Amino acid sequence: MNEEKRGTFSNSLGFIIAAAGSAVGLGNIWRFPYLAQKNGGSLFLIVYVIFALTFGFTLLITEIAVGRKTKQGPLTAYQFISPKFKFLGLISFIVPALILPYYNVIGGWIIKYAFEFVIGRGASVAGDGYFQSFISGYMQPIIFCLIFSVSTFGIIYAGVKNGIEKLSKILMPLLVLLILILCCHIFFIRHTDETGIARTGLQGIAKYLKPDFTDMTFSRFCRMCIDAIGQLFFSLSVAMGIMISYGSYMKDDADLNKSTVTIEIFDTLIAFMAAFMIIPIVYVYSSTDGVQSGPGLMFIYLPKCFASNIAAYIIGTIFFVMVLFAAQTSAISICEAIICSEIDAFGWSRKKSTLVTFGVSLIASVCICFGYNILYFEMPLPNGSKAQLLDLFDYVSNSILMPLLACLICVMVGWFAKPKSIIEEIQRNGESFGRKGLYIATVKYVAPLLLLIIFLQGIGLF
Ligand code: PHE
Repeated sequence: MNEEKRGTFSNSLGFIIAAAGSAVGLGNIWRFPYLAQKNGGSLFLIVYVIFALTFGFTLLITEIAVGRKTKQGPLTAYQFISPKFKFLGLISFIVPALILPYYNVIGGWIIKYAFEFVIGRGASVAGDGYFQSFISGYMQPIIFCLIFSVSTFGIIYAGVKNGIEKLSKILMPLLVLLILILCCHIFFIRHTDETGIARTGLQGIAKYLKPDFTDMTFSRFCRMCIDAIGQLFFSLSVAMGIMISYGSYMKDDADLNKSTVTIEIFDTLIAFMAAFMIIPIVYVYSSTDGVQSGPGLMFIYLPKCFASNIAAYIIGTIFFVMVLFAAQTSAISICEAIICSEIDAFGWSRKKSTLVTFGVSLIASVCICFGYNILYFEMPLPNGSKAQLLDLFDYVSNSILMPLLACLICVMVGWFAKPKSIIEEIQRNGESFGRKGLYIATVKYVAPLLLLIIFLQGIGLF
């Protein structure tokens, strides 16, 4: 299929901003701060960076290279790398198809909270039980999800250059500006609680950045490494088909190595900044000491902090707008992974693919919204948690299919197609690739092993 019909990014910058927009998402905001605090502050940051430069880099550059080399969507790309691994296409299609419906539901929740804060009703969402009653309502979660989905699919419909790239070029700089404001304000906050204890933002920063070696046994260190790998893997948007589709829209003369490093640095910096602002906010305004993760942090704990005073309220408003930008660009990317597969595998037009996917994903999203009322259930998962419908979608995609897919991609490249096939693509225009040796060792041995551990942990065997 020709470039005109598939679409391309206009240049490396367009690709980098769109891919960074995909990488920066809810994972950076609602999971990274929790993991950083749980695992000894800056100690975790160091471990995270080391894995990002080795393991994360390998997974990310492999997927982008597979996309650019084959110029195919995830569903059909693998067969051109190694025919035996054609089946990976199906997994790469199922993963985003499972994630998109629930990401749109969460996107709807974010719009709702951003809206309430912007119109001055943020204090009410901080009330006890508000979140639970909101998500178990019949109409509102569906309406807000619909608004978020229409905006996602509208951009997809507009195309790669005119939709995804243009929007990312607007939203990403704004996101950086907002997160910088949020981080800077931490230096100035101070709050005295009911018991008369005053806490400052600077103390909160110290709490985040002070390395914590208490009880740093070997097993705790291993757990910290597993947390870092699991987080990285989700945060870089690999094993979701996204980077293959974005890579397939990349121009042949772009430097793959440099682009990958830039995306990684950007994603990691935003994660660090998210923790830099969230850990102190929770420390200063909340009597609970530890940062939570997931929806609980974003929709229950943080709104309570933001309701503390008027300055915190303004910060809360900026925060939810920032999160909305982060979630929107990620949702667009996961949607594009599906659309790109359909266009290449079934020969559909972008218009047809967008409309069909919109319809199907909306039905699935509505079912997920009903998962908190008429379809409510509680299912114990092998990893010990209890799941509702949304958690089940999340568990199957994130804990089972994604580690499995990433592991098999490494096996395919490391042992069947051989690393040379990817390295050739990375050096296509004669670029230097200094980390060649590291890449080969990681893709053949280190990454499959680490991913196997993450997979076994996901299914409760480790
Ligand atoms: N990197 C994204 C995040 O941190 C992962 C993601 C991308 C999830 C797209 C869903 C959709 O949230």
